[in-house]
Parts: sequence; structure tokens; C-alpha cells
Amino acid sequence: MIEKACLDNAEDILLVINRSNREAYKNTIPKEHFREPVLSQQELLRDFERMTFYVYRSKSKIVGVAALQIESKETGRIHWVYILPEHQRKGIGTVLVTHLERKAKEIGLRRLRLLTIEKANWAINFYEKLGYNLADEIERPWGFDVFMGKEL
Ligand SMILES: CC(C)(COP(=O)(O)OP(=O)(O)OC[C@H]1O[C@@H](n2cnc3c(N)ncnc32)[C@H](O)[C@@H]1OP(=O)(O)O)[C@@H](O)C(=O)NCCC(=O)NCCS
Repeated sequence: MIEKACLDNAEDILLVINRSNREAYKNTIPKEHFREPVLSQQELLRDFERMTFYVYRSKSKIVGVAALQIESKETGRIHWVYILPEHQRKGIGTVLVTHLERKAKEIGLRRLRLLTIEKANWAINFYEKLGYNLADEIERPWGFDVFMGKEL
């Protein structure tokens, strides 16, 4: 039930990302650094031009999102992996990221990387289970951002 997203899906994608982000990060990121909504319509339209979005539907409703950006000849970057709270822990995130990995391999990419935050232990667990390793960390006002990566 994964499909490549189109601009007609923009409103649903924004809803999934912004609602999921609010629930996950509102109490994790200090108030002064928490952005809500985390993604505006204008930013999403910009991202549509530089990455490919995929959506997961459950009973025809979009409940999960993930995007793949080509960074260089061999490296891709995963962005915006968000599942609606009531649909989490059902394997949807795994299916979406595995799909991105398959697409990345098809176009000849050799590795994928992504950025998350150290305090998001659920996200780190999720990516570690999929074979991603902690690669680097960057100090930010809200704590540490961490890069994770995987050789395909
Ligand atoms: C992180 C996220 C994408 C995972 O998607 P999901 O569909 O819920 O994950 P899955 O059901 O495929 O989980 C696979 C494994 O990841 C780990 N995992 C997932 N959610 C977890 C949680 N809340 N706490 C701890 N481990 C978790 C578990 O090992 C899980 O396996 P299990 O359920 O058999 O124990 C989802 O929780 C989400 O949208 N979170 C909010 C947004 C976010 O943080 N996105 C990542 C941004 S970088």
C-alpha cells in the first residue's frame, strides 16, 4: 500500500508530518526551539522538487510518509519518516524505509544517511533495528543531532 506521492497528496502529507511531529517532539525539544508546524506548505512544495515522497495508505487514508533525496552519485538521504501516532508500532515505518532502500539501490546508490536527534530514542531504536549505525553528532541548542547511516 505504498505509492509515490504527488502534489495532490500535499495536504495529507502535511497533516501526517505535523501531527506526528507534535506528539513525538513537543515534550522532547525545549519550547523555545520547538517549531510548529515543523513543515509549512511552501517548504513541502520546495522539498517535492528535491526529493521523492512516498506515502503509505491504510484503508485508503494516508497514515505514513517518507522521502528519499539523492545527495550525490552514491549517497542518498532519508527525510520526513513520520507515521500517524495511532498507526505507529505496526511495521509501517519499517515497510516505508525498506521501500526507500529498494528504490535507492535501483538507482545505484550505495549508502543512505539521515539526521535525527539524540533524545529521540524511539527513532534511534527504529533505525538501529533496520541496520543504521550512529555516524556523527552535531551540537545544537536543543541537544545533539545525530547522523545515522547504512551501506546498502
Ligand atoms: C519512528 C517511527 C517512524 C517508527 O515507525 P513505526 O511504524 O512506528 O515503526 P515500526 O512499527 O516499523 O517499528 C520497528 C521497530 O522500531 C523500534 N521502535 C519503533 N517505535 C518505537 C518506540 N516508540 N520506542 C522504541 N522502539 C521503537 C522497535 O524496535 C520496533 O520493533 P517492535 O515493534 O517489534 O519492537 C514512528 O514512531 C514515528 O513516526 N515517530 C514520530 C516521528 C519520528 O520520530 N520520526 C523519525 C524522524 S527522524
